[in-house]
Amino acid sequence: MVTQVPPTRIDFSPEDRAWITERISQVLESGRLTLGPFGEEFEKLLANGMGVKHAITVNSGTASLEIMLRAMNVASKDVLVPANTFFATAAAVISAGGTPVLMDTDVATLSTSLAEIERRLTPNTVGIMIVHIAGFITPEMPAITAFAEKKGIWLMEDAAHAQGSTLDGKHAGTFGLAGSFSFYPTKVMTSAEGGVIVTDDDFMANEARIYRDQGKASFLQNTHIRMGYNWRLSEPHAVIGLRHLHNLPTMIANRRRIAARYDAALSGGGNGLRPMLQPKGCVSNYYKYVVMLPEGVDRAAAKKWLREQRGVNCSGEVYEVPLHKNEVLKHLDPGNLTQSEIACGRQLCLPIFASMTDAQADQVIEGLHAAQKDGVL
Ligand SMILES: Cc1ncc(COP(=O)(O)O)c(C=O)c1O
Repeated sequence: MVTQVPPTRIDFSPEDRAWITERISQVLESGRLTLGPFGEEFEKLLANGMGVKHAITVNSGTASLEIMLRAMNVASKDVLVPANTFFATAAAVISAGGTPVLMDTDVATLSTSLAEIERRLTPNTVGIMIVHIAGFITPEMPAITAFAEKKGIWLMEDAAHAQGSTLDGKHAGTFGLAGSFSFYPTKVMTSAEGGVIVTDDDFMANEARIYRDQGKASFLQNTHIRMGYNWRLSEPHAVIGLRHLHNLPTMIANRRRIAARYDAALSGGGNGLRPMLQPKGCVSNYYKYVVMLPEGVDRAAAKKWLREQRGVNCSGEVYEVPLHKNEVLKHLDPGNLTQSEIACGRQLCLPIFASMTDAQADQVIEGLHAAQKDGVL
């Protein structure tokens, strides 16, 4: 029986578990189970780490998106959103009363090009949501930011994949008015469930705090001034997040070591597989390691072969299909999203996680080479 390499792993060492358990016990003893000192500490460290003025924690990355959009009042307005993203990026626009306008993908960065933004802009557009797929940041971010400024519309980032990724030293989530992150278990760091809004903007920060707590004027005031919701992060979740935030630099360094090993083994060319290399200036957190398959490869069959013959378990794709290929969003198809279909259709995500060993990475590499010899790749 071949040893299995899992697609991903959520790592909490015995020390991490002891650290978390001790603090959750303190939370239980104190009776402050939500919006308490651990949440405040988590917010302070998140803001400091990214060099921004405010971090407002919430109970998911979907909540953070909807709050940012509600704060900017997108009702009856258009928001540019990539077709190559998670359901929630577009769904949050709809929940906040707006209309997502889908944009095609720049396959080289998995993001959206400035040219595509210019093409899709409508007279009713109030903002652009950029998504840093797999942890990559497009080198066009400064040009996109300048374009949004010139047009008088906002730029915000769904940085759910990009905790700790940078472009020319600047953190994902800090390029525009506000950035949204998710701490869902499979992300580079987790709080079990959770999310955060980061911003330098005092208005956005203030609105976010109001929205996340039922739209109340303040924590102790039971009068409601916005259509908020229960988007609060509990203290036990904040404790878990604090521990992973502490581990984040090491976890990213380990992921980057594995990615460098894949890059070295797979970027020689001539083998048909095309590893996605970091865009210029981007230091990725390697939330995902994406390889583009040659045209015509049966991805499902190749994944099955790798798993059964070589114990290599590839994860689900970042996105198997773009948004407009989902039943509930197909009415958003504006036509001509072919690059998104190629980006989603041809990608394969190799196993990558913080505790992965070089030997496991080598098993993946050898598995890929063997699959090529066998003709399944
Ligand atoms: C790009 C993107 N946006 C938003 C979300 C939503 O985050 P959450 O699951 O924390 O609500 C996710 C992931 O789950 C995501 O990948």
